[in-house]
Amino acid sequence: MNKLTVRDVNWGGRRALVRVDFNVPLQDGKITDDTRVQAALPTVQYLLEHGASVVLMSHLGRPKGQVKPEFSLRPVAAHLQELLPGQKVHFVADCVGPEAEKAAQSLPTGEVLLLENLRFHPEEEKNDPAFARLLATLGDVYVNDAFGSAHRAHASTAGVADSLQAVAGMLMEKEIDVMGQALENPQRPFVAIVGGAKVSDKIKVLENLLGKVDVLLIGGGMANTFLAAEGFPMGQSLVEQGALEMAQKLVQEAKAGGYDLRLPADLVVAERFAADSPHQVYPISELPQTGMALDIGPKTVLDYQNVLIKAHTVIWNGPMGVFEMPNFAQGTLAVAQAMAKVDGTTIVGGGDSVAAVEQAGLATAMSHVSTGGGASLEFLEGRMLPGVAALTDKGGPTR
Ligand code: 3PG
Repeated sequence: MNKLTVRDVNWGGRRALVRVDFNVPLQDGKITDDTRVQAALPTVQYLLEHGASVVLMSHLGRPKGQVKPEFSLRPVAAHLQELLPGQKVHFVADCVGPEAEKAAQSLPTGEVLLLENLRFHPEEEKNDPAFARLLATLGDVYVNDAFGSAHRAHASTAGVADSLQAVAGMLMEKEIDVMGQALENPQRPFVAIVGGAKVSDKIKVLENLLGKVDVLLIGGGMANTFLAAEGFPMGQSLVEQGALEMAQKLVQEAKAGGYDLRLPADLVVAERFAADSPHQVYPISELPQTGMALDIGPKTVLDYQNVLIKAHTVIWNGPMGVFEMPNFAQGTLAVAQAMAKVDGTTIVGGGDSVAAVEQAGLATAMSHVSTGGGASLEFLEGRMLPGVAALTDKGGPTR
């Protein structure tokens, strides 16, 4: 990446103010998935090993600028202490103000301080300059390791970089490098699989990928909209009426440009949207009026597997069907399994496809599983993320 990273800073005796994405799922005060906490550890450990003290800041959930105890980061501090048994992890009940300042200023080298949820202050999401300056007083150098929040232009992801030298953490660097390399300089054949419910959510991703990939495979609810736009009667299937035109335009663009854009040839059709609904496979031209498509069918799976087996770079975003229901998880599972066998780079982004890969026990078989949902989507759209744009350029002024 063309931004400074933690490796470009001399940390001896300095305080690192690190934005992490500890937006983890909690149930009854317990973390149910600590992937994002684990993913931040390499940066924290690097900083500690290089003589820094580490002030961590994050959001959790969407408390909308109010102090809501159920969104406290306190349980995350306790968990972090378990993950870093050799280091002292402190917690302070606000992210700005006298208590936070005192805790940050007196933090000894080699120790960690986690601040309370940034979003307890409405100024965070407004990217309020005065609030950003208050945050900046808590460190000597700013590190952004929160790839999952890099698409947000908030005080802790953007504004704070106006006052401090701003460098990328190791997770941020890895996410940007792996996905950037795949998009800009892929080993070919390069295949993208895009699924999920709505065309409108991902139209920019599809447009950006179409000209870059060798094959674009489409599945999930959005395939229904594409098929409807192609004139196939979709019965009771979810079809996004407002997106028919954009789907049609993309198909035309693919045809005109000679791009290989593939839609399902068959679908698993259920009588109702329920895990125990009777279901049957139909070719797309014979979908019953009364049924709804909930997964791609076996012919489609075979076609997509044949494409994937030859690929050397694969990016996947969005499930192929309602994978939360075992009867409609086959398409998603088959894609995950085919990806696991790819000889090359395999990247999974987006909350649902990451959950599917984890459910299939195949996360470790992928080259990269992104910690970003919205952020990875915007990255795949080809957008510059505000949290990355705010970092200091390589060769730029150092402080
Ligand atoms: C995420 O979970 O995608 C990030 O933490 C960003 O959260 P947000 O959508 O509430 O900004």
